[in-house]
Amino acid sequence: MKYTHHNNELTMNDINKTVFLKGFVRKKRDLGNLVFVDLRDSEGLTQLAFDADNPLKAQAEKLKTESVIEVGGHVRERSSKNPNLHTGDIEIDVDTLHVLSLAKQSPMLIQDDTDALEDTRLKYRYLDLRRPYLQNILKTRHKITATIRDFLNSQNFYDIETPYLTRSTPEGARDYVVPSRNYPGNFYALPQSPQIFKQLLMVGGFEKYYQIARCFRDEDLRADRQPEFTQIDIEMAFVSEDDVMRLSEGMIKALLKKIKGIELKTPFPRLTYQEALKHYGTDKPDTRFAMKLITLNDIFKKTDFKVFKTVLDKGGLIKGLPIKNGAKLYSRKNIDQLTKDVAKYGAKGLAFFKMQDHTLSGPVTKFMSEAELTMFKSITKLEEGDMMLVVADKANTTNAALAYLRNRIAKEQGLIDDNEFDFTWVTDWPMFEYNEEEDRYQALHHPFTKVHDQDKDRIKDAPSDVLAYGYDLVAQGQELGGGSLRIHELTMQNDVFTVLGMDETAIRQQFGFFVDALQYGTPPHGGIAFGLDRLVMILTGTKNMRDVIAFPKTASAHCLLSDAPGEVSDEQLKALGLKRRE
Ligand code: AMO
Ligand code: AMP
Repeated sequence: MKYTHHNNELTMNDINKTVFLKGFVRKKRDLGNLVFVDLRDSEGLTQLAFDADNPLKAQAEKLKTESVIEVGGHVRERSSKNPNLHTGDIEIDVDTLHVLSLAKQSPMLIQDDTDALEDTRLKYRYLDLRRPYLQNILKTRHKITATIRDFLNSQNFYDIETPYLTRSTPEGARDYVVPSRNYPGNFYALPQSPQIFKQLLMVGGFEKYYQIARCFRDEDLRADRQPEFTQIDIEMAFVSEDDVMRLSEGMIKALLKKIKGIELKTPFPRLTYQEALKHYGTDKPDTRFAMKLITLNDIFKKTDFKVFKTVLDKGGLIKGLPIKNGAKLYSRKNIDQLTKDVAKYGAKGLAFFKMQDHTLSGPVTKFMSEAELTMFKSITKLEEGDMMLVVADKANTTNAALAYLRNRIAKEQGLIDDNEFDFTWVTDWPMFEYNEEEDRYQALHHPFTKVHDQDKDRIKDAPSDVLAYGYDLVAQGQELGGGSLRIHELTMQNDVFTVLGMDETAIRQQFGFFVDALQYGTPPHGGIAFGLDRLVMILTGTKNMRDVIAFPKTASAHCLLSDAPGEVSDEQLKALGLKRRE
């Protein structure tokens, strides 16, 4: 096709030039004696004009929106200019017009403020993708991956692919499985991450690996999750935690510079897992605002208030969330609503304390002695007009409920600056967490995470106390990436598998090939993986993960465009040795 310019280019400097343009008919305005057409391509808009005496005017009148056309003409100054458009000073006086593809009536309005429902947009995603909003996000996504590749290439990393058809990998979600035709009754699993293979690349003698890799997880989807998503996956041999964190900081810094023109300060702040939980109630704290939680156990050691006493007797946790000037902002009715909302996190109640007229009030104060009230004031440092919300429960419940309230109230109070970029490391993770429902230990990161040197002899004796060389990068209250140093010695690997409840047979069956590999000389190694989709969300400011993926799935893992998942034919099932259950 011959075209001389994109539709974002022509200005007063081009007056009288003969030009050829192409694109979609975005809009047509028929003024009777004059027809205007907005022509849109991937770069922008240009106005086409068909005057009363233009022999093409009759054809222009019949143009259907979203048809693809090619025009020739010359650039002239507009009579009414549009200062919001780079090409807003000019228009094209058209003398050739070819319709390359005639469009049917579009099922959706193709513009940024479209009124189409998201289901319609996903069904006709190819139309949705024409909207400048999505075009810009996906172009930024490209710029992000290009910058990451440039950065990692400059640091001598090798980009190596790992299999998609493989065995189950241990990231903790359910696997997507693919039946095998050659081995009826056997299945490949799609990788939840390249974890095992990137470690095998280290055993294989590569020292710096990266891959922008698709990962597949069949899990309950939330706003920040997709069933297939992309990781920036990194692994390095002979490194310390600091090496991996420094490399990551360099990469994020380069990205913010390139994409946002922002000069980030490095190194990023670090919190230990324990500190994060203590001050924010969560391992992914939003540190753009203060509102740190305050532990109140000491105040209520000898309390007469039965609820708090019972909680403390059972080893529970009482914590408060301070709200500056909250006393007037939150009425009884507001607090009742908050109480209902934290019930979703298992909290059985929500107490409040208000500091008004220099006295502390609230439903629990009547149970408190003078000494307890004084202690409360000195520990919480509440000032006139402040409020504190308090949860007493099992530690996990107290933390989860208050972490939720902290984020929600900060949002309600406008304390969060969405343009502030804030990255924090959370380090020193426990190796295991105890799953009470299933009565077993599970790895907080994954079973290949190396435990702290001083804990390596008590992995089996005191699993709950063992810390690991794990680190997460948290940004705006989201887990943006996670990684660790890896186990490179067989004994430690076997101890960890044992705590996870695997006996020798189970280890051999699931990870035999991996355990074997560790025995042929394994360089100490470590790495990290970042969620690319989340990174693009942060850098483009969207709250919807589907906006950063060209062809995303719904919250029920359905592709509305292709209608996947779909059925397969009986022949296909037969070839795979599968039978449909009635
Ligand atoms: P992890 O499971 O923490 O670590 O994943 C790394 C990062 O991937 C992103 N992420 C997701 N993004 C979108 N949708 C999902 N369903 C989803 N799940 C995870 C998150 C997360 O921080 N192999 C290890 C990494 C390592 O140890 O090197 C791993 O996969 O941003
Ligand atoms: P009650 O004596 O049950 O009316 O409770 C007195 C106050 O304590 C009410 O404001 C409750 O919301 C609050 N409360 C009850 N249980 C808890 C709890 N587990 N944590 C925090 N506050 C609670």
